[in-house]
Amino acid sequence: MQQVVEPPAKAAVFLVLTVNAGSESDVLEVLADAPGLTRSVSFRAPHDGLSAVVGIGAHLWDRLYDLPRPVGLHPFEEIVGAKHRAVSTPGDLLIHLRARRADLCFELARHLVARLADHATVVDEVHGFTYFDERDLLGFVDGTENPEGADAEAAVYIGDEDPAYVGGSYVLVQKYLHDLDAWNALPVEEQERAIGRSKLDDIEMADDIKPANSHVALNTIEDADGNDRQIVRDNMPFGAVGAQEFGTYFIGYAADPDVIEEMLRNMFIGKPPGTYDRILDFSTAKTGALFFVPTADFLEDPAPAEPADAADRDTPADRTTTDGSLGIGSLQHTNGKGTT
Ligand code: HEM
Repeated sequence: MQQVVEPPAKAAVFLVLTVNAGSESDVLEVLADAPGLTRSVSFRAPHDGLSAVVGIGAHLWDRLYDLPRPVGLHPFEEIVGAKHRAVSTPGDLLIHLRARRADLCFELARHLVARLADHATVVDEVHGFTYFDERDLLGFVDGTENPEGADAEAAVYIGDEDPAYVGGSYVLVQKYLHDLDAWNALPVEEQERAIGRSKLDDIEMADDIKPANSHVALNTIEDADGNDRQIVRDNMPFGAVGAQEFGTYFIGYAADPDVIEEMLRNMFIGKPPGTYDRILDFSTAKTGALFFVPTADFLEDPAPAEPADAADRDTPADRTTTDGSLGIGSLQHTNGKGTT
């Protein structure tokens, strides 16, 4: 599979592209070569954790493959609340690059975009950085309650519910811009009530004092049996001081995109309706798109998994590397191939 679960990155590049009409077969070739390009860059800095994840949007899927769509893949539908809107914006391909050094992400982005240059247009490009102790530009530590280990893998990788695409995942991205002047004019206590955690030491508020419109309250969700519905996030701050642009690039991975979409409904419409997420009064979603993340095997040789052997073909519990990557990361390329 592609390396979706990672420790928090130090640097990231997020590219969203649209694919030109008629360029489908060229794009398929670039997708097949993406693991090789990643190895070319990561092998020169093997301890700096470069990884690449490629996602494919619903419209492009139908153009590229004569195969059924993965069950959860659809164009992201905008979510309109009484006050705030989660927009849906164009995107055929998502490229999510992470490393401990910005130069590695930049170099790989350069090579991938050079290969795609005549075939696709970059419609959004964000270079994210680590801000102190994993803080967002609102000043809060972001990522604390991400699931880890087996819980993270269960949250993100498709299992038997879609046998043709076991080991795949879904990823939803939104680029948010913050009104930092307005946010910083709030007393810290009010900021903490918006997030649901303390600012300095990142401790969650007790349930009886955590406001219903806090970010944490609205994003803590359960299924009908009381099990947590979880996603894996790797948000990054970004910005430009001259332009007074201060942002959070939200990226969430899940085995079922409805988990992410339920969180978005809670945030934008509110739970109950009207109790929308207070951070949206200071954060505007400028983009929004959903992608399917196929396995690395699939990128190199597109074919559905055989249902009969799906269980042992490419599952989290049965891969040939130790960290969840089957070839698009950096630390498992000792055989010089890095694929399964
Ligand atoms: C402006 C954009 C956003 C910012 C600045 C932000 C920031 C934060 C912060 C500071 C936390 C608390 C610490 C943590 O557990 O990570 C948090 C938690 C969380 N956020 Fe966000 N977030 C943003 C957007 C989103 C979106 C769009 C979603 C879902 C679609 C989301 C889902 C979650 C979840 C699931 C948690 C953990 C809740 C828990 O179990 O305690 N976030 N976020």
